[in-house]
Amino acid sequence: MRGLKGKIALVTGGLGDLGYASIVRLVEEGCRVASFDLKTDDAQKLSALGVFHQAVDIADEAAVKVACATILEKIGPVTILVNCAARFIFRSVDATPAEWNDILSVNIIGTSLVTQNILPQMKASGGGSIINFSSVSGFVGQANFSTYNATKFALRGLTKCWAQDFAPHHIRVNTICPGYIYTSAFTDSCQKLGLDIAEEDRRASAMHLLGRQGQPAEVGAAVAFLASDDASFMTGSDLVVDGGYLAR
Ligand SMILES: NC(=O)c1ccc[n+]([C@@H]2O[C@H](COP(=O)([O-])OP(=O)(O)OC[C@H]3O[C@@H](n4cnc5c(N)ncnc54)[C@H](O)[C@@H]3O)[C@@H](O)[C@H]2O)c1
Repeated sequence: MRGLKGKIALVTGGLGDLGYASIVRLVEEGCRVASFDLKTDDAQKLSALGVFHQAVDIADEAAVKVACATILEKIGPVTILVNCAARFIFRSVDATPAEWNDILSVNIIGTSLVTQNILPQMKASGGGSIINFSSVSGFVGQANFSTYNATKFALRGLTKCWAQDFAPHHIRVNTICPGYIYTSAFTDSCQKLGLDIAEEDRRASAMHLLGRQGQPAEVGAAVAFLASDDASFMTGSDLVVDGGYLAR
């Protein structure tokens, strides 16, 4: 893809399945990559790729400020930001204020804090690309998912507002909206709910026109496209990568 070689990218949630897949593809395309994640275990798989990983809670304003400044100092200015980190809290109207605070503090406020601190680096560089992870859950209702889906709808709205705010600085802002991707988030939630993984995979696969769940690398490819100059006329858009889930 055009225009990625030598660019500096930051991926939040870099130790999660889709953050990691995005990193792998950006590294393959010649980017230098930094990562934030709450997790520290498995961080050597990032250092093996030459990624500069920091253990950061994106909901912690002071920590985000320091970590963004550290990237600038150690690597240089970020011009590609992939806001992928998320909390998965699936509740309906029974959600407690603590659960709402928990999911909003990461999916919305954390995304905003990281963007706020990276923005000066992008402006000073003359432009950039921001990719916010929404989901098919940002388009449709799903039973008992209201906490999660509210954040994924909000990320689409926030993206369109930021696209307007940042366009004068040549910064493009888009969402990526995956369908069901076969990840540990899927297998872990099956295990937590005591569901049979193979049976749930069949059920989830049937929701997609292509008859299967997506693979993380298919999302990583779409992230690299949005980051690249091949997407130079895209801003304020939603890139749906869903095997036809929303087309049913
Ligand atoms: N997996 C799917 O099927 C799917 C579908 C549509 C959209 N998405 C979206 O893709 C993104 C990544 O999902 P995934 O499947 O890779 O999930 P994941 O759980 O594997 O990855 C999320 C990562 O975010 C990190 N994280 C959570 N809170 C954090 C915080 N406060 N600070 C820093 N890091 C934090 C976690 O430690 C984890 O590594 C999410 O935004 C999710 O909503 C996933």
